[in-house]
Amino acid sequence: MVHKVRAVVAKEKNAPVTIETILVPDPGPGEALVDILTCGVCHTDLHYKLGGIGEDFPSLLGHEATGVVSAVGQGVTEIAPGDRVILNWRAVCGQCRACAKGQPQYCFNTHNATQKMTLEDGTELSPALGIGAFAEKTLVAAGQCTKVDEDADPAAVGLLGCGIMAGIGAAINTGEVKRGEPVAVIGCGGVGIVAIAGAALAGATTIIAVDIDENKIEMAKKLGATHGVNSRQADPVEAIRELTGGFGAGVVIEAVGRPETYKQAFYARDLAGRVVLVGVPTPEMQLELPLLDVFGRGGSLESSWYGDCLPSRGFPMLVNQYKLGRLDLEAFVTERIKLDQIEEAFHKMHEGKVLRSVVEL
Ligand code: APR
Ligand code: ZN
Ligand code: ZN
Repeated sequence: MVHKVRAVVAKEKNAPVTIETILVPDPGPGEALVDILTCGVCHTDLHYKLGGIGEDFPSLLGHEATGVVSAVGQGVTEIAPGDRVILNWRAVCGQCRACAKGQPQYCFNTHNATQKMTLEDGTELSPALGIGAFAEKTLVAAGQCTKVDEDADPAAVGLLGCGIMAGIGAAINTGEVKRGEPVAVIGCGGVGIVAIAGAALAGATTIIAVDIDENKIEMAKKLGATHGVNSRQADPVEAIRELTGGFGAGVVIEAVGRPETYKQAFYARDLAGRVVLVGVPTPEMQLELPLLDVFGRGGSLESSWYGDCLPSRGFPMLVNQYKLGRLDLEAFVTERIKLDQIEEAFHKMHEGKVLRSVVEL
């Protein structure tokens, strides 16, 4: 059977998104059909729409979602119809070198659904991050679904599917922030601010928010930062040193993606401290460092991808933290909107006015 549902589609590069009727097939082997409850509007959806992530149009946007499984295909045992799930970008294979080493978060053979969703005229859709959840129903690989408790606000827990997991995971998985360890976050936009909440969740007691925008610093303080540094007014490396007894932060999370902020992160860390790189640079960007400083300071520089998380472990763990009141996911939900307000939500996001607009289906 084919399901006709409403969905938000970017038909061509840089054009306003439109609401279309799309055709979603019943799940084949290894696939799941999911009734979407909520889907957050993420920067990556905007990148897709602007053509920054390939030229595969029409694109079915939306990838930060929660839903209820409505049907599963042959061979699917880990989820069943009626399960509340959070979706992730890619199912892991369980067999490659990374999976065999017990590091499935680095799986080399991730996959999405095999069958295609289409427009009514048969044109195949390219789903954002293999999900496509600005739709009443979507088709994914069963391994993209993680079952979670039903008694949690779907709009809040759905954010774990992308931005929140990336930011919190940078602190708790990649940075392995320890209780009482000083943490600095450079860049407190959508990603950095969540890393601050992650540092707080991990038990850091000195959390320094660095940005060039005073409003971002104020928001960061509401979500767990204990200190703010405006790097237009003060040298952030010196300020971080001063706030940490002259040593530097045990973990510095870079969430801008520019050479000068990479360099600040490098020098703001304590001896043997860890730098976590979340900000994505452009191909032409270069960074020059004295090798003696690289050698002499010890510690590590690690990039963080999707919070280095394994969704099947990370999502339920964070849902529990939320239910226990230790992680305020609702604080990230600025507004709840309908499918036809997504274009407006993109504008607000672009202006930095919202943390998250969440579509309720
Ligand atoms: N120093 C400190 N903060 C800066 C600087 C700087 N030199 N330049 C920009 N910023 C701040 C901005 O004021 C803003 O608050 O960095 C923040 C960037 O936030 P967003 O634009 O909301 O971007 P975000 O979605 O958080 O992503 C940040 O992480 O995932 C990557 O690709 C993403 O590289 C990007 C980075
Ligand atoms: Zn996203
Ligand atoms: Zn694998």
